[in-house]
Amino acid sequence: MAKSRTQYTCKECGKTAVKPMGRCPQCGAWNSMQAETVERRARARRSTKRTVEKHLRLIEVEGHGEERLNLPIDEFARVLGGGVVPGSVVLIGGDPGIGKSTLLLQMAMQMAQDGRVLYVSAEESPQQIKLRARRIDADNEIPPDLYMLSETDLDAIMEHMRTLEPRLAIIDSIQTVHLPDIESGAGSIVQVRESAQQLQALAKQSGAAVFLVGHVTKEGAIAGPRVLEHIVDTVLYLEGDLYHAYRLLRSVKNRFGATSEVGVFEMSAMGMREVDNPSEAFLAERVVNAPGSAIAVTMEGTRPLLVEVQGLTSPTSFGHPRRTANGIDFNRLLLTIAVLSRRVGLRLSDQDVFVNVVGGLRVNEPAIDLAVAAAISSSVRDVPVPADLALIGEVGLSGELRTVAQLPARLREAAKLGFRRVVIPKSARLTEELPQEIETLPARSLQAALKIALDKS
Ligand code: TYD
Ligand code: MG
Repeated sequence: MAKSRTQYTCKECGKTAVKPMGRCPQCGAWNSMQAETVERRARARRSTKRTVEKHLRLIEVEGHGEERLNLPIDEFARVLGGGVVPGSVVLIGGDPGIGKSTLLLQMAMQMAQDGRVLYVSAEESPQQIKLRARRIDADNEIPPDLYMLSETDLDAIMEHMRTLEPRLAIIDSIQTVHLPDIESGAGSIVQVRESAQQLQALAKQSGAAVFLVGHVTKEGAIAGPRVLEHIVDTVLYLEGDLYHAYRLLRSVKNRFGATSEVGVFEMSAMGMREVDNPSEAFLAERVVNAPGSAIAVTMEGTRPLLVEVQGLTSPTSFGHPRRTANGIDFNRLLLTIAVLSRRVGLRLSDQDVFVNVVGGLRVNEPAIDLAVAAAISSSVRDVPVPADLALIGEVGLSGELRTVAQLPARLREAAKLGFRRVVIPKSARLTEELPQEIETLPARSLQAALKIALDKS
């Protein structure tokens, strides 16, 4: 018998409660508990039949090995860990307009070359999607095995998946589809969670790979909460800012590959274009020998990336000095400024400080600290950092330069791009030989590193 009741679900973490609450008892978020009407579980679960599985010895499990569907978009395949895994569910999040639908349509067109692909759009009409397909690839025929479906009812979508048996299905987006059995509206936590669970079950059962587009909330998380991240196999974020062409596809969870792997794209007039040499692209507009610029070598997953950090200081006009961080963590900027004033003796208390990572890139790695400090000092002293010098190192609270992971890979990338010298932490305890093609200048402290970078010898 179907009976409905009201429950309260946290939109941040998915915690459920029977009574309304101002604050989530699990994650502590305020005003996050939303009322939802849920039908008794028995009805919602109707379609997942209960079967009793036999237990198995692990050695008896039939191995599928590394079976992956070939995806000719290399940067995308790299983030997935080498290609699309049949039967897996991948969630792609990102700000509106960042290019999720474009990238997935490109993928759909590629994968439909040798198998059926179903693109379910609950947001755009098939005509709009056709226009986009023409725009992305005006020269080639649209593959006949690419199917479109404009539908929001998930039961119907899954019915189409069962009859069409696509190797790849794309649901754009998970927040716009709904299960009619569940009373709460599309996009609610219960809907999103149940929908994802049913799609996950269908993917496993049918072997189709399923890609879900997830909208992102103001806070930057995929809406329809963390629980979604637990259900799916892989979570990717497409990042970048709308005023720059570069887009980074980052994996934050991957059951079938390394996390924090990054693919770099550029939004062009003809869809998302792969960037083969990202370091070169990020340094393309650099003005050499200009004060306030320093080159850092960061790691994005397993890939080293050279980025330009710009610093600008100018005298504060109203009492309280301003600090602005673009592309690096604000608190790390404050820390670096504090170390510069206390340990290096740079006077910044009456200076506004602006720091920017060029290209709209966001770097969360402390290895960029030294370049940030050098860019600021270079601006204050109006002395440029030499054009052939790169800087690597985390800055500690006592002004010491701390070592960073994967130094050899970083050094090789810097050498490849024509840098001849690089400042590294002296404490770098090395398990690998450092590459010979670039000169390393070890420094124990931030002060020593800045002396190398900014004092003419
Ligand atoms: P879209 O893929 O619709 O973003 P999302 O699905 O993440 O919301 O991308 C939309 C933006 O991309 C839009 O502002 C237009 C731009 N765009 C291009 O610059 N070039 C192209 O070839 C296409 C298809 C879109
Ligand atoms: Mg879209």
